[in-house]
Formats: sequence, C-alpha cells, structure tokens
Amino acid sequence: MTIEWRADDRQFHLANGRLSLILRVYEDGSLGHLHLGAPLPTGRSYRHLGPDPFEGFSNRVGDPVPFAYPTPGTGDFRVPALVAAGADGATALSLRYRDHRITAGKPPLDGLPSTYTETDAEADTLVVALVDEPTGLEVDLRFTIFTDRAAIARSATIRAAGVAALDLRTVMSVSVDLPDADWVMVGLAGAWAREAHVVERALVPGRLSSSSTRGVSSAQHNPFLALRRPTTGEAAGEALSFSLVYSGNFLAEAEVDAFGTTRVRLGIEPETFGWHLEPGVSFTTPEAIVAWSDAGLGGLSDTLHALFRDRLARGRWRDRPRPILINNWEATYFDFDADRLVAIARTAHELGIELFVLDDGWFGHRDSDDSSLGDWVVDRRKLPDGLGAVAERVTELGMGFGLWIEPEMVSADSDLFRAHPDWAIGVPGRARTESRQQLVLDLGRPEVVDHLADAISAILASAPISYIKWDMNRYVTEPYGLGLAPDRQGEFFHRYVLGVYELYRRLIERFPDILFESCASGGARFDPGMLAFAPQAWTSDDTDAIERLRIQWGTSLPYPLSSMGAHVSAVPNHQTGRITPIGTRAAVAFFGVFGYELDPTALSDAERADVAAQVSFYARHRETFQRGRFHRLESPFAGRRDEVAWMAVAPDATSAVVGVYRILNQPSPEVRHIRLRGLDREAIYRVSGGLAAEDDIVVRPNVGERTGAELMSAGLLIDLERHDAATLGDFWARLFVLERVG
Ligand code: DGJ
Repeated sequence: MTIEWRADDRQFHLANGRLSLILRVYEDGSLGHLHLGAPLPTGRSYRHLGPDPFEGFSNRVGDPVPFAYPTPGTGDFRVPALVAAGADGATALSLRYRDHRITAGKPPLDGLPSTYTETDAEADTLVVALVDEPTGLEVDLRFTIFTDRAAIARSATIRAAGVAALDLRTVMSVSVDLPDADWVMVGLAGAWAREAHVVERALVPGRLSSSSTRGVSSAQHNPFLALRRPTTGEAAGEALSFSLVYSGNFLAEAEVDAFGTTRVRLGIEPETFGWHLEPGVSFTTPEAIVAWSDAGLGGLSDTLHALFRDRLARGRWRDRPRPILINNWEATYFDFDADRLVAIARTAHELGIELFVLDDGWFGHRDSDDSSLGDWVVDRRKLPDGLGAVAERVTELGMGFGLWIEPEMVSADSDLFRAHPDWAIGVPGRARTESRQQLVLDLGRPEVVDHLADAISAILASAPISYIKWDMNRYVTEPYGLGLAPDRQGEFFHRYVLGVYELYRRLIERFPDILFESCASGGARFDPGMLAFAPQAWTSDDTDAIERLRIQWGTSLPYPLSSMGAHVSAVPNHQTGRITPIGTRAAVAFFGVFGYELDPTALSDAERADVAAQVSFYARHRETFQRGRFHRLESPFAGRRDEVAWMAVAPDATSAVVGVYRILNQPSPEVRHIRLRGLDREAIYRVSGGLAAEDDIVVRPNVGERTGAELMSAGLLIDLERHDAATLGDFWARLFVLERVG
C-alpha cells in the first residue's frame, strides 16, 4: 500500500519511492498540505512541517498555513480552491475533516475523462471527506497515487448535504501549497498556427496565471503549468507539473504570498463558471494530474508521456501502430471529385502511405467555408456514387479510408439551422457573433447530442471508415443555454464540454475500431481530456517545418509523440510561405504521428522517391517514434535558438533516432557537441546517417561505432564549418540512427 495513515499524528503520507505527498489534519480539523515533491521516508511524523505550535487560526489570520483545499472568508487571503455561496449568500467556509477511505486502484470519474488503472495494483486512492457544518457542504477530496509513476491524480466532489441549496462559484481540481517561491513557471502559449510556445516567468509576489474562456482549452494557453527551479534544465533538477484532464475553460495559476510561499491552483475557469446544487446533489471536478521530477523537465515529460499514452488514452487504438496518412486538405481544399481523390490515394499508396483522409467539403453543398455544416449528407455533385463508393475505391487499393467531420458546428446556410435555429448557441435578442461563417451547436442540450450521435453514426455506418478527424473551428461567443434557467447560466460552458464528451463516448461505443484524431483549427483543443477519447490530435494547422520545431517542442512537454499529428506539406508552406527542403520537413514530422498534407500527384520524380524513402524510414522506426522515449536536447526557445535537436529512443533502448536542425545558417558556426540521452552507457551503438544521408560529408565524422557513454557525455559532433557551411543553406536537418551492436 502506498498510502500511510498515522492516526496519532492524523497524517496521510502517499509515497511510492518516486514522490511523496503528505497531508495532515490540523487540530481544528482543517486539512493541511505538508509536502509535495521528493520521496520522503514513510513511518515518520512530519507534523512539524505544518504550523507549529498550532493553536487554531483565531490569532493567525493571514498566516501562510498550507492547506489541501483552501476556502475563503476565514483567514486565508490567498486564492481559494472552493468558493460556494450558501442560502444566505455568505461565502465563508471552514472545511473540517470528517473521515477518510483508502482503497486499492482508482475509481472512474462520473461522466468525465480520467486516467485509469488496469489492475488495482497500479494505484491506491485516498478519499478525505471534509464538511462545512453551517452550510452542510461536503467535499470528497480524491488523491490517487500511481504505484510506479511520479504522479498523483486529484479531483473533488462537492455535495450540498444540508437542507439548503448551494451555488458553486469556484471549484478547483487541485490546489497545492509549496513552502517557497524559488520557481520559474513554465507554460505553453500561442495562437492559431503558433501553438504551444514555451513561455517562462519567474514567480514574484502576486499572481501569475494562464487560462481560457473560449469554450475550448488551448491554442492561446494549454491547461498545463510546470514549475522548475531556476537551475533546472531538461535533464536535471527539480520540477513539478499540473495538467487538467479537461477540454474547456480553465485557469492555471500560481500565487506567491507575503511570506514567500506559493499556492498553485488548477481547474475550471471561475469567471465563466457557476453551478447550482440543490440539496442532496453533487458536482465533480475534472481530474488534475500532478507530476514531480528531480530529472528536469525531461523527467516530467517521461512521466506524463507514459501516463497519457498508456493510462489516459484508451480503446483499440491505444497500443496499435498508428497509420501513416495522407490528408487531401492542402492538396485540394474544397475543390475535388471522386477521381481526384482516388488519384491522390493511388499515388500515395504507391509511395507506401497507409491511410487516405478525406477532409472538409464532402457534404451538403460545401464549396467554401460558408455553408453546410450540420448537414452530414454526402455531396452528390462531388461524389455522385456516394461516400461508400469512394471509400471502397480507396480501400481496394489496400489503404484505410478516413473522414473529416465537425459535428459541433452549424452553418447559417444549412438545413439543420433552418430546421433548428435555436440549437445554435446565442443569447435571445442579441446578434450572434459569427466566426468562419459558422455557429456552435449547444451540446449542453441532450436533444442536440442525440441528433448528432444519429447523424454522424449514419455516416460512419455508410462506408468502410477506419479513421475520423473531428474538427472544431471556432470559439464560443454569446454563451447562453436556452435549456437553462437564468440563475444557472454559469453551468453553460461545462455542460457544453460534458456534451462533447458524451457524443465522443457514444460514437466510440458504436464504432470501437475507428481511430479518432481530435482537432480544433489545429491545436486549439489539444488537452488531456481529448486524449481520453482521441489518442492523437492535429497538433497545429501550421505544417511549416521551422515553426513546427517550436510547436512540437512545446507540445512535447506534457504530451507524448503518439498524440501529436505531424505532416509533411508542400512548399511554399501554406501558413508561412517558407520554402524548406522536403528532407527537413520529414525530419521534423517524423517526431510525431507521421503523415502528408499535399498532392502527391504534383510531386517530381525525385520528390516521390524522397517520400517513398521517408515513409519506409518512418515505418521502420515507427515503434521508436510512437512508443519510445522522447528527449529534448537543444531548445528553439533558449540558448542558440537557431539550433535544435531532439531524439527518440526505442522502448527497449536498442535503437534511437536523433534529429538535428539548423534554422538559419551562420558563417563560422560554432561546433556543436550534442549530448544524447536515454542510452545505455556501457553499450556500443552503430551510428549512421538517416535516410539518404550516408554520403553527406557533414554526417561522416559521426558515422561509426560509439559507446553510449561517449554519445551521452562527449556528444555527437556536428561540425558544419569545416564542411563548407555555405553549401548547406538555411533550414538544414539531419537524422542519425543509432543501433545497438554490443
Ligand atoms: C481546420 C483544420 O485544422 C484543417 O486541418 C482542416 O481540416 C480545416 N479545418 C478544414 O476546414
């Protein structure tokens, strides 16, 4: 058992040798938070880490007492985890310990995605019940510690257990009090086509936060926050992370108080949230994952990647090799017919590509983005014999057939909108704000989810479809639920997210063999909640190799390569206009779930040969990319920003692929010694240039047999200058393959 309860000290110690979380019931019954981080010996009292001597709060108002789930109005002036108004409108709360349960395994969260265990031996769960006597508000705080992972899952259930109703205003999934503020906050920020850039801010007194109020989680900020020590890097040093398993509005915040202690909280964004609880009714928060590492940000990534890939993603595609796909979007946009699609698929198949994905424009009369969303009926002008016929022509080639859908949307020009204008989100009497000429359906309404489940199921059953790209191309404005009473409008956003999850759940249940990829104009909803339904996501609409170095680097902080769709597209790149070599585009896209986003019939013979070689290279190393360990080596956000390097090591560590990139060429470049990671120091590796690089003089100094110790300590030598840097140009990339030979 990884959870120790010391009745004498009233102390809980969750410990698995990889991290410790220590809680204590203070004398006044409130639940204290004594330690989160490095593993500490069990069998000992740590009560001295809390306020000592502790005599209640009466004379200690405003002191930095560390709490597990702080509430306002009774002497703690830092940001709260829970704000609720009772029948009298008062918001002061004093949560007191009532009892606790410790069980093996991890119970599911009702209606919400969460991490899970396959056997009870994989985790233990502590549930601490707290109660506020005057209001009758009860809280079940859940803490699951995974046996073999440096991670803890947290969530809370709030119940109106008294005679009166309650109004929840803030309900965080996790709150953690840390004893000092010597941290740098690491977040992922960006915009459409520029997602997940790493942003670092040293903590200072006051609050630092990131959030979303858009109805989806993540292009501007990801529901992920890490704290690292100022000296922590990728491979060494202490770091903590917080991830929210949720796909809607969120808040991630760190507050440093007057005493130099830090409170971190993460949960549903409070400004856009409210929930009414009638007596006897409860509310459960999304799950938060807290990870700790003393092996740097890379150590955090290791823990999160394995947890998200193996115990958050689920279903038949969780462990299966993901197909190399080609998507017709940038090849044709809305302008295609069946023969054009089949021609693309046929050429792609000849090059070894395994799955053809038909993107937007196959339904209604959608020749541009201003119509037909909601009318999930095949457009017979483009596909006269129907979807089934074109899907069969593709599958007869020996490829899978995939399809794009955007179920949450409706166009004003659609039969669905004409029939049900009130299904589109909006405030009665107020104009709706359009975005991309489309409106959002209110998935908080069960009849809308029922309709979509039937309409999408009919399409999925009509053709041999093995993959779905589920897109979502705008944010929610004029949030208002027609089905909700005026005093319950705060529930709108969360009910919307629950509706999305419900729709996913029903479709997956009916079509368990389909591989779902989530998308929201690229990475606007790349979050752990989505990964529980769709094991991979379209990382960004931006397929420019150089921008992708940054996007994929940042995304990889919390998310595994198996979740990151990454494609080679045509040049000039459609998002940036940049022209990069096709080898560079592939060398970046390999580090993800690989595919293409171009017209292969328009490629030159040489480019086709390149593509065929790339496809076979990825197929050969697929397990390494999709199930191996990823190590970030040289950052595009720090140091020499034009030089980037990363590597993936096979699950059994017998082989690895290293990607080395130079964005802009430099005269007289400095010599690079890239120190590799994750290898066996004692082993001998044969190092070769990946793809057709064997004859490249730049590679030669490295090709040969090297010990793991040398590669990790002396590094791979990249010495461009001595080999005519001028001929290398910008946007240079090279892959190195390591094979263990002794
Ligand atoms: C946005 C997606 O991210 C693109 O890949 C493409 O599917 C378009 N939508 C289609 O409208």
